[in-house]
Amino acid sequence: MKNGTVTRRDFIKLGTGAAATGLAGKVTILEPLRLAASPRPVPPSDTIRFAILGTGVEGCSLLTATLPIPGVECVAAADLYDGRHIAAREALGGKDIETTREYRRLIDRKDIDAIICATPDHWHRRVVEEACEAGKDVYCEKPMSHTVEDGLAIVASVRKNNRICEVGSQRVSNILYAKAKEIWDSGKLGMVDSIQAGWDRNTDFGAFQHPVPPDASPQTIDWDTWLDGAPRRPFDLGRFFSWRRFKDYGAGLAGDLFVHLLSGIHFVTGTNQPAQRAYSSGDIFYYKDGREFPDLLWTLYDYPKFKVVLRCNSNNSEEGEFFRFYGKKGTMLIDGKSVTFKPEAPSHQMDSYTILGWPRKLREQYEAEWKKEHPLPKVGEFKIGHDETEVFTTPRGYSDHTQHLANFFQAMRTRQPVVEDEVFGNHTAIGCHMSNQSYFNRTAVVWDDAAQQIKAA
Ligand SMILES: NC(=O)c1ccc[n+]([C@@H]2O[C@H](COP(=O)([O-])OP(=O)(O)OC[C@H]3O[C@@H](n4cnc5c(N)ncnc54)[C@H](O)[C@@H]3O)[C@@H](O)[C@H]2O)c1
Repeated sequence: MKNGTVTRRDFIKLGTGAAATGLAGKVTILEPLRLAASPRPVPPSDTIRFAILGTGVEGCSLLTATLPIPGVECVAAADLYDGRHIAAREALGGKDIETTREYRRLIDRKDIDAIICATPDHWHRRVVEEACEAGKDVYCEKPMSHTVEDGLAIVASVRKNNRICEVGSQRVSNILYAKAKEIWDSGKLGMVDSIQAGWDRNTDFGAFQHPVPPDASPQTIDWDTWLDGAPRRPFDLGRFFSWRRFKDYGAGLAGDLFVHLLSGIHFVTGTNQPAQRAYSSGDIFYYKDGREFPDLLWTLYDYPKFKVVLRCNSNNSEEGEFFRFYGKKGTMLIDGKSVTFKPEAPSHQMDSYTILGWPRKLREQYEAEWKKEHPLPKVGEFKIGHDETEVFTTPRGYSDHTQHLANFFQAMRTRQPVVEDEVFGNHTAIGCHMSNQSYFNRTAVVWDDAAQQIKAA
């Protein structure tokens, strides 16, 4: 291995996902960006101090992902289920931080610079607005908004208070996506007319049926506060732990997974607007557990220069997570661990089909001319298969969560733009809402930019 470039044999030994593509060609392990929340060691007085609101699955992942970032420190966590106060401390390696059910206490603390919001979606707007009003910068989980109105309000609040806001689709900070963008920008794909992406899973938890911890009860959970902004209901552990199934709190497969796919596509293609039109189809095929969102969802989106097809299937995982960008001169694939560029070999086939209806003399004349213009390559110059294929992969242990959080903290210090701000996050969230609105109303929908609304097509 030399300068991050490995032979195919080295690569297979590394055992990464890209090896499974079985493609010949050059394989490169990409170098992660430096984790620079601060360019040099930071004295304790200059450390960024942050609090996290919501320390469930994602909140705990984020806390652990902050640990390698220099110059930042979690000082407090709020959650409405007491077990998650313990989980938060454990995610920080046992650090003794303030934990509370009262998120507002943390927003009011003057010694806290930033808030990470990892609550369910129906709480995002309130947390971001209150944090911005209190002068905090905010890292808000994806999908940024629960409704179109929430998204517009978040954008307005961040702007009004002149805050930094990073939205949490961490893949846009992934070195794979930076490489994919470089390939896109180089024009190597030629004209791209379509992009297909999907995220298929075949597990109960992948389909939003999450186990309930044995100590969960009305005594250990503040159910009333959790419901705030949503209709009142009796205590319901299924809703508390598996909220993505219900419209009052989440946005189903679109809000959970399409948002990552749309963020990746917008980032790579340099798109910063919602899709113009969307049409969805899907159904609840297997998980008939009272959920409102489908367990299979397809959406076809129109963008000005290409079409996008997204799919999430909860009942078959054959293709896992993938993106395919189809260009006239090549195809680019992204999977969980690699980016592959496959040039599309120009066709060197004579059109022997159309000339079937020509008189023999004209056919022979055409054939002779074609062969003169397309001489056979000399022996030794033949290229078989995609030997120009390039594969790029991440090093073992690479975390785009850490990279994305580092981007946020660095922007806090420099007051320079983040990679995924509230406007970008709003546009991808609108794409999710378009998908759902089309699915539920059984009609195509359009984004009316002047009215800032989704309307029936
Ligand atoms: N970026 C990613 O890859 C990724 C992955 C998973 C989840 N998410 C997002 O993260 C968010 C949380 O998802 P999750 O899977 O961790 O959910 P979760 O249910 O596991 O955790 C959410 C926690 O928020 C707490 N909470 C709710 N309202 C609160 C409030 N007002 N104050 C304090 N705590 C409050 C709840 O008590 C709960 O423990 C969602 O927006 C989700 O879409 C992002």
